[in-house]
Amino acid sequence: MADIASTVKDICLLWIKFVFALGKAAYRKVVPVQLKPVKGEIVLVTGAGHGIGKELAFLYASEGATVVAWDVNTKTNQETVSEINQRGYKAYAYHCDVTKREQVFEVAKKVRQEVGRVTILVNNAGIMPAKTLLDHTQEEIERIFALNVLAHHWTIQAFLPDMKKNNHGHIVAISSIAGLMGSEYVVPYCSTKFAVVALMEALQQELRLEKVYNVGFTTVCPYVTDTGLCKKPKIKFSSVMAMLNPADVAKAVMKAQRTNEVLVTVPKYLLYLVTFTRLFPYEVGVLVRDFFDSGLYADS
Ligand SMILES: NC(=O)c1ccc[n+]([C@@H]2O[C@H](COP(=O)([O-])OP(=O)(O)OC[C@H]3O[C@@H](n4cnc5c(N)ncnc54)[C@H](O)[C@@H]3O)[C@@H](O)[C@H]2O)c1
Repeated sequence: MADIASTVKDICLLWIKFVFALGKAAYRKVVPVQLKPVKGEIVLVTGAGHGIGKELAFLYASEGATVVAWDVNTKTNQETVSEINQRGYKAYAYHCDVTKREQVFEVAKKVRQEVGRVTILVNNAGIMPAKTLLDHTQEEIERIFALNVLAHHWTIQAFLPDMKKNNHGHIVAISSIAGLMGSEYVVPYCSTKFAVVALMEALQQELRLEKVYNVGFTTVCPYVTDTGLCKKPKIKFSSVMAMLNPADVAKAVMKAQRTNEVLVTVPKYLLYLVTFTRLFPYEVGVLVRDFFDSGLYADS
């Protein structure tokens, strides 16, 4: 009897909290949260030498953050940093192959000594070879996993301890729309991007249970972006679903981080579309896919 009374009490409490949380979310749609300041933060961006990472490095630096740019391409990474410095903002370039765990820890130590403790980590670097699964070699699949998902584990292991110690920080992961819906010719890529969504969600729960409340988690899933990563995009409604501009994606990423969003797509409506479609039988999802007929072709 006591058990039943306690369960009924828990269910009532859950409903009250549920309605309160919904009300809060609705209120936030009308009165958006204030942007978290990034001035004075140390923001590390992986893959800062090109594309979305480069734009993110510019954007954070222009908002007063100190940017630490990591890339395996020393030349383009240095170009990003020189351009930021020329505009009077603060940035530092480090060569780092994020697929190599030891190197990540070594370079992280150097960054701590030379720049300071990283407070915002943006795991952005990624690759996307496009071909059928049977055409992917073992080495290629391992490389995609090493960069697109394992590297996130290494950088998080390197920088999260300081964030936890200071109960201050933010981890941002660039997944993809391919991390929410599987797509032809990029099977390993999709696996890694789904894995990134899972990694972020699981880690966020781990920290919540450890009562580390001031380390934020933001996962961003952009649609096809004009950086050259997607070599042969397939877009049916090009007037309404054109390739995104990397600068616009970077703006959306920074806004999501500064408003503490947990999971967003760029553009935002795609998250609703994907979630809504999943409520229906598989065949309905196929109809929606075929209607939009967007994705990509194999690289060659
Ligand atoms: N471009 C798109 O259509 C698109 C769409 C959705 C998601 N994304 C994701 O956004 C992220 C950035 O994509 P992008 O289009 O800007 O890519 P990009 O190819 O323009 O830039 C990637 C950068 O990562 C660097 N890099 C590659 N391997 C590295 C390594 N081992 N260590 C460190 N740096 C390395 C490259 O040198 C390059 O500067 C990726 O995670 C990608 O999956 C891209």
